[in-house]
Amino acid sequence: MTSLVISGASGRLGARILAHAQAAAGIKVAGALLREGSARLSEGSPFTADEAVLQAGRVLIECAPKPAALAHAARAANVGAPILMATTGFTPAERTLLEAHADRVPVLIAPNLSLGVTVLLDLVARAAAALPGYDLEIVELHHSKKRDAPSGTAWALARAGAAARGLDADREAILARAGDIGPRGQDEIGIQSIRGGDIIGEHTVYLVGPTERLELTHRAQSRDVFAAGAITAARFLAEQKPGLYAMRDVLALS
Ligand SMILES: NC(=O)c1ccc[n+]([C@@H]2O[C@H](COP(=O)([O-])OP(=O)(O)OC[C@H]3O[C@@H](n4cnc5c(N)ncnc54)[C@H](OP(=O)(O)O)[C@@H]3O)[C@@H](O)[C@H]2O)c1
Repeated sequence: MTSLVISGASGRLGARILAHAQAAAGIKVAGALLREGSARLSEGSPFTADEAVLQAGRVLIECAPKPAALAHAARAANVGAPILMATTGFTPAERTLLEAHADRVPVLIAPNLSLGVTVLLDLVARAAAALPGYDLEIVELHHSKKRDAPSGTAWALARAGAAARGLDADREAILARAGDIGPRGQDEIGIQSIRGGDIIGEHTVYLVGPTERLELTHRAQSRDVFAAGAITAARFLAEQKPGLYAMRDVLALS
């Protein structure tokens, strides 16, 4: 039985993870950690604001905002609770703090919990290395409410492809093309964003050669894609020794 503490369980991501965890075989929700003063505390178990719910062997799935997430991770490391960090947006210094906990407990920092995207990142790195002369282009589609562009996943795909070729994606990325731009630079990585309606999230990576092109596409079919990945990752983490892990380890891609 894998025992979980889900932090930020009243939020969009945390609530879906809680629902999945409560329906999953072999999973016990030891606690759903909320902000002190949260209205949902009145609902009683499993909701709590008491961090003492973090205990040895219980996997913390962290979805709260950064300051709370960092504090919960420190406490989890102190008591011996594995950490699955779903919260995103850490600075390099904050990431170093999180990574330091890996001396004491298993730590998995997961910028994207989707299992399919995890495999796609691996495929893109391998394809970009195997087809070095092929032009790398990325198109991502999301719903009309998304505020940032390109998506974090598109950037991760660009970085995976660029790193496989010894390039820096942040330097090579071309986020718009218009007017008299001249021929495409060999190392350019074009990233285009389409926004509309209720598209959950799609990413296609193109590797375009002189005689053929390869297209690698991931389509999210449900917003629960992250919750499903979180449960799989938590089961994995519960079995690990202290150390730093990534989603690729969950799928034995390393
Ligand atoms: N890794 C991935 O694949 C992935 C996927 C989706 C999202 N994310 C990330 O996950 C994080 C949460 O996203 P979201 O969309 O779920 O945000 P959200 O809806 O704002 O949820 C955050 C929740 O954390 C709660 N919270 C605040 N302080 C807390 C505390 N001290 N203890 C426990 N809970 C606390 C908030 O409660 P109140 O509303 O009461 O303040 C809120 O319900 C973000 O960093 C997002 O980028 C990651």
